[in-house]
Amino acid sequence: MRLHVADHPLITHKLTVLRDKATPSPVFRQLTEELMTLLAYEATRDVRVEPVTIDTPVVQTQGVRIADPKPLVVPILRAGLGMLEGMTKLVPTAEVGFLGIVRNEETLLPATYAERLPDDLSGRQCFVLDPMLATGGSLAAAIEYLFERGATDVTAVCLLGTPEGIKAIEALGDDRDVTLVLGALDEGLNENGYIIPGLGDAGDRLYGTV
Ligand code: PRP
Ligand code: URA
Repeated sequence: MRLHVADHPLITHKLTVLRDKATPSPVFRQLTEELMTLLAYEATRDVRVEPVTIDTPVVQTQGVRIADPKPLVVPILRAGLGMLEGMTKLVPTAEVGFLGIVRNEETLLPATYAERLPDDLSGRQCFVLDPMLATGGSLAAAIEYLFERGATDVTAVCLLGTPEGIKAIEALGDDRDVTLVLGALDEGLNENGYIIPGLGDAGDRLYGTV
């Protein structure tokens, strides 16, 4: 597993506002999207491209375009939906699939309740979006599911992560080609499985259900 933790003042600034409990849902949504766009730059570093020849107004030259099969972006419902626009703005030709996973707040175990993905993911590069990597159970389940469906490699993007969450993704094993991109690495989990310092419940804060 390759790990990249962002180190940029603009990302830290936006995360600070996001963490603030006084930040209202509309601002939280806007910042989540903006942070995703900033993290997409790193997350797509190894996106597959193919050569293309084009004519500039002056000469013919070589460039690249996103290769087929197109990357598949998979937001984990609900909170991952807040990151989708930020990603597709940068990679508009990407296809989008959905996974609905909710964590049982007592056992902290993930349960998958929805799935809408292409049947065959053979040869696909997948990008999983979820703002929170807490115990890592939800993200690990999502990543494993995509590999079982044939994905070649998975890049997961989370705004906040924990050492516990990173261990859970590492435990998927070396034969899984996984890259994890985090906006920040937080201290850990509290007794209820919430990230500290964290930002609270990302889904609730995005959709105003606090
Ligand atoms: C949150 C978050 C992750 C999960 C992280 O989702 O968006 O999917 O918890 O926790 P874990 O790493 O311990 O599995 P939640 O279950 O609250 O669902 P929601 O997005 O519908 O609010
Ligand atoms: N899910 C969240 O939304 N926040 C946390 O801190 C942990 C899990």
